Amino acid sequence: MVYLSALGLLCGLVAHHGVFIRGEWHMRIAHIIVTHAALCIAALYFLYGSHDSWKDALAALTRISASYFSSLCTSIITYRLFFHATSSFPGPKLAGATKLWHVFHTLDSKNFIFLQRLHRKYGPVVRTVLDEGRSQTTKDVWCDVLKPYESAVFTRDVSLHKTWRRSWSQSVSNRRMDIYRPRIAALAERVSLSLLNGCAPVDVGEVMSWFSFDAMGDVLFGEDFGLISSRSLHPGIASRDKALSLLGPLEGAIWIARLGFLLNPILGWAQAWYDMLAFCEEQTRKRTQRGECLSKPDMASFFIQEHRQDSEIRDKQSRDHLLSGTMVSAVVAGSDTTRASLIVLCWFLAKYPIHAERVRSEIRDDENIDTMPHLNGVINEVLRLVPPAMTGNSRITGPRGLEIGGIFNPPFTKVTAPKYPIMRMESAFMFPDEFLPERWYSRPELILDERAFGPFGFGNRLCVGKALARAELGCIAMALLKRFSIRFTPGYDPSTM
Ligand code: HEM
Repeated sequence: MVYLSALGLLCGLVAHHGVFIRGEWHMRIAHIIVTHAALCIAALYFLYGSHDSWKDALAALTRISASYFSSLCTSIITYRLFFHATSSFPGPKLAGATKLWHVFHTLDSKNFIFLQRLHRKYGPVVRTVLDEGRSQTTKDVWCDVLKPYESAVFTRDVSLHKTWRRSWSQSVSNRRMDIYRPRIAALAERVSLSLLNGCAPVDVGEVMSWFSFDAMGDVLFGEDFGLISSRSLHPGIASRDKALSLLGPLEGAIWIARLGFLLNPILGWAQAWYDMLAFCEEQTRKRTQRGECLSKPDMASFFIQEHRQDSEIRDKQSRDHLLSGTMVSAVVAGSDTTRASLIVLCWFLAKYPIHAERVRSEIRDDENIDTMPHLNGVINEVLRLVPPAMTGNSRITGPRGLEIGGIFNPPFTKVTAPKYPIMRMESAFMFPDEFLPERWYSRPELILDERAFGPFGFGNRLCVGKALARAELGCIAMALLKRFSIRFTPGYDPSTM
């Protein structure tokens, strides 16, 4: 019997060092399960030949499997703890051993607070999860969550990203923004007018969901979802929110999400994700069928045009996947992030009436946000203190590794620069936890290192929707402050934010 355990042990070592250590496996969960199941069946058949009964053969297989999995797990953990190039990095030991540790600690979707705590304890560089990626590209494995759909936002391929980003940039170019801005202002005005009846408290989360979804519908699809007028939530919002809250804690362990997708027909765990995809596909189909509307230009026209133009270089299925993936990215990136900032904006305006008053005093008839320094300062502080993309946006280092702050990160290591702790660093901002809009115009000495401010990311992955998001925030602030003083509901405790 000892030889059976030894065999399992050997197989575990071979599987780790010969297979799993050599690549990314999150996209091959189905292959892994099927291969293991096939090997078990073959082994059972083989063992039956040398045992008296199926029962004995099954007992032998159980013994081999148990020693296989123990040896595989022990080998992985030992390698990660003692031999991996990042094993000497500061950080909790268990974090280096398994990604499940991080998932477990961020089930409440408060990864940003968790990372800030780790940074305070271990310093600027912390090992939190371990990813043995083998990709030569910059974005991390999380981006594969959308597959088989594709988009500029999610692709890990640098040259595809460059090509696909073009239509995004055109769709929100300065000229396009001149067309969208008055439409966004009109929607913000609609929100403000819809709140005029009565002085009962309103649920800002709900109101900003209507506005951000209507704005996305208008700019992206040229469609009026009519949520502000009907004061109702769209089922697409519910599935988007549920899908994002399901996936959020799994950012460090995408294989769990992929496994959930695979088992969805049985467990239904990821149904909200599929509902969200179905909603985006349906919108895309409707918009494509409707054709161009010259009186109401939208972003979708660029993506649909790209879909047509690529017909000579890509097959229909991959073009369809790109179009749908782009729409999903736009719905998520274009409404969820902005909604979060809009809610936070209202929160700060309620918390600091003095800043609301100063913004109000800046409002002129032309309503040009560029000439309103205090409003711009308020928006920057909102995005600095509570950035919608608080963590995430990770990268994998290239084949030559990457030196950050004097510390060498080995090749193919996942690196995250979480925005929430970075934008509150004392070395970058004086009084980093204070809401001080003046630091962005009249008191620049309060900013020690502007490089720390990156709510929209940096470089060639910089958010293309930056101007759109800022327009939505500015328009809502003006439309509300023109008519209202924003206050917390009696009994609400602001410290619970
Ligand atoms: C307050 C609102 C927003 C915030 C804070 C925000 C933040 C970000 C950040 C941090 C990134 C960089 C991700 C990375 O480095 O991996 C990004 C990328 C992106 N955002 Fe936004 N975003 C906002 C609104 C929007 C809107 C309204 C749109 C819709 C048009 C949009 C579209 C995109 C796209 C397409 C990318 C990918 C760019 C690329 O990879 O080339 N975002 N956003």
